[in-house]
Amino acid sequence: MTLLDGKKTSEAIQDEIAAEVAAIKASGGKVPHLAAILVGNDGGSVTYVNNKVLACERIGFDSTLIRYEDDITEEELLNKIQELNEDARVDGFIVQLPLPKHIDTEKVLEAVDPKKDVDGFHPINVGRMVAGLPAYLPATPAGILQLLERYEIDTKGKHCVVVGRSNIVGSPMSILMAKNAYPGNCTVTLCHRYTEDLTGYTSQADIIIAAVGQPGLITAEMVKEGAVVIDVGTTRVPDASRKSGFRLRGDVDFDSVAEKCSYITPVPGGVGPLTIAMLMKNTLRAAKKEVY
Ligand code: GUN
Repeated sequence: MTLLDGKKTSEAIQDEIAAEVAAIKASGGKVPHLAAILVGNDGGSVTYVNNKVLACERIGFDSTLIRYEDDITEEELLNKIQELNEDARVDGFIVQLPLPKHIDTEKVLEAVDPKKDVDGFHPINVGRMVAGLPAYLPATPAGILQLLERYEIDTKGKHCVVVGRSNIVGSPMSILMAKNAYPGNCTVTLCHRYTEDLTGYTSQADIIIAAVGQPGLITAEMVKEGAVVIDVGTTRVPDASRKSGFRLRGDVDFDSVAEKCSYITPVPGGVGPLTIAMLMKNTLRAAKKEVY
């Protein structure tokens, strides 16, 4: 079994980006600038956004973090988005999800200028991705493609079973894995909460991508010998032995599945770090006007 080291791969990608930023700086070009809007104090979201800002600092991007209490009105948030759309200093920005219930997430995502939508969540970017046009790809699926590519994993003609159909991971992942490209050219099955006989599908999969947020859902009995297993889950579970009081658990029962598969991503240190690297990559592409 080979461990797919997301941390190392993410660092390699960030080093490549940092070298490009250094060259941009040396030639007097515009330094990429990412802004992030964070609403509320959800522990996971605060950590993710802080890591995104730290990554910007490490690779030499400018960054701006805009924080609001969770009682911010939808109108105030939409006004800030409009301001960032019009701010020529900002190349790309993200609104960290989830948002509080009183805010219409779809309306917020649609308010972001697609040219600055480095999360790739705007329906125009989603549509362009499906149509195979230049677009910002959502960072987590793009990171998984990078991992498959950099470990030279064969995907052509393979059966890829994606578990979970979220707009952020499962749905775009299923589309990308079916594309006529490498990584891609898979036969894709998209499973979700109403799938009857999940094991019937996963046990036939050459590649399993689990993105549901249910710790330990995928057990060894559900996995074919030699399969490639990508774990996107990062659920916080209580752990009194940790200073934080919790640890991250993936959707895959790592210890049992690792015995059976050919490749597996750990949690943490698998897909998570790649999401950040690909957000940085999208921001660089925005600054270089590579997409639009
Ligand atoms: N929440 C979970 N994943 C993501 C992500 O990739 N981007 C944003 N903005 N919010 C998220």
